[in-house]
Amino acid sequence: MPNTSVTARLALSLAGLLSLPAASWAAGTPPAAASSVMESSFPVPSTAQLQAGAKVAQTCAACHGLDGNATSAEFPKLAGQHADYIIKQLHDYRIAKGAKKPARVNAIMNGMAAALTDDQIRDVALYYSRQTFKPGVAFADKKDLKLGASIWMAGIPDRAVPACVSCHGPGGAGMPSRYPRIGGQWQGYLEAELQMFRNDRRTNSPEMHDIASRMTDKQIAAVADYAAGLRAPSELPR
Ligand code: HEC
Ligand code: HEC
Repeated sequence: MPNTSVTARLALSLAGLLSLPAASWAAGTPPAAASSVMESSFPVPSTAQLQAGAKVAQTCAACHGLDGNATSAEFPKLAGQHADYIIKQLHDYRIAKGAKKPARVNAIMNGMAAALTDDQIRDVALYYSRQTFKPGVAFADKKDLKLGASIWMAGIPDRAVPACVSCHGPGGAGMPSRYPRIGGQWQGYLEAELQMFRNDRRTNSPEMHDIASRMTDKQIAAVADYAAGLRAPSELPR
């Protein structure tokens, strides 16, 4: 979609102008200003940690790619994702003490995560977070993108859905240790996750459950498509 980067630029400049009203907040705590900077809250990983992570990643590569840029919408891209978020997800795929099922249910990933030690989880997360992310594309029609853009920037006021931009940032880069990067992720993956938050198959985020449960299928598909075309500021073509 040739207009994608234009849309992203527009989103960026809009985000600069908008000061998001606290009243549109229905769920969760009001976020700090979303950061577009791709820093991690982790200290710089050691070479040994990155090497150990690369070794673990060999068992993930068939689906997520060795460089974390999964080539099919079934598999999320992990490249450039915040390490803390990857760590949280891998723990959520395991069964917590006293729980009957994992907070995030997926047959493949429940098995993969159960087989990893805590150190391996940290190392593979550090490794993937340092890989260069290859941005994605939006491929819906213009009308769909317009709806998606308005949900991203302004939420859905009459359903008390907050603006995605306020947590995930204008380019969708999220914020280390708080909000995952979703800009440039596969549309099909983002749509599937929003559906799972809504129908409680993914129960590891009360705030995203709240948000998704107030959205229609059409709104979910549209905002997922818009997000898939977003680029973090550092990834915009110059
Ligand atoms: C056979 C394919 C396959 C393999 C191998 C695999 N994964 Fe996954 N992974 C998936 C699928 C499918 C999902 C999406 C599952 C869902 O919807 O919860 C996923 C999701 C994830 C997520 C969540 C991403 C997000 O954006 O929330 C992380 C993190 C992850 N995998 C890490 C790993 C790591 C680390 C390994 C290797 C140790 C690995 N995966 C191996 C298929 C795979
Ligand atoms: C209050 C802050 C907040 C707002 C607003 C918000 N999100 Fe999220 N979102 C989160 C957090 C936190 C997570 C990580 C949840 C977890 O730990 O699994 C997340 C995760 C996600 C994921 C899963 C990402 C992945 O890799 O699996 C998607 C998709 C998503 N959000 C889409 C949206 C959309 C679309 C909107 C706007 C309609 C939105 N979010 C608004 C905080 C927010």
